[in-house]
Amino acid sequence: MELTEKQQKEFNDVVREYLKHPDVQRMKGYCAHGKISVLEHSINVAKTAYLLDQRFHIGSDRKDLIVSALLHDFYLYDWHDARLNVNIFQMHGYTHPGKACENAMRIFGINEVQQEAIRCHMWPLTLRSVPKHKESVLVCIADKICALKETVFRW
Ligand SMILES: [Fe+2]
Ligand SMILES: [Fe+2]
Repeated sequence: MELTEKQQKEFNDVVREYLKHPDVQRMKGYCAHGKISVLEHSINVAKTAYLLDQRFHIGSDRKDLIVSALLHDFYLYDWHDARLNVNIFQMHGYTHPGKACENAMRIFGINEVQQEAIRCHMWPLTLRSVPKHKESVLVCIADKICALKETVFRW
């Protein structure tokens, strides 16, 4: 499944400004899974979420969907770093959505739909943060598809 030329252009029109930001570029320096950086993983998730939306005619808000997917792991630290407090290492799965949301709010002033999508992307691990908007559900599903591809299939 690939984006059409028109979809790719629409995708690029949304991500362009964000990708220029130095803090978004910092995600290149952190590893997500295997050899995949957090930035590569985030772009994969954004593309996959957008593809799912287009393929199944979900009708999400394009900007909310792509921006929240691109920033869903915008936590800006290396969670593999052994120098980090052991609790943070263990709790990363639970705590990073909140940290990513906080950074995205501070730096980009993201709206409520985008905040929810970022905060809920680890559901069902984060039991009480249940995705409600269609954008949140798509980001949550796309993240799992990409994590699986990147770890198991080394995509
Ligand atoms: Fe995440
Ligand atoms: Fe992720």
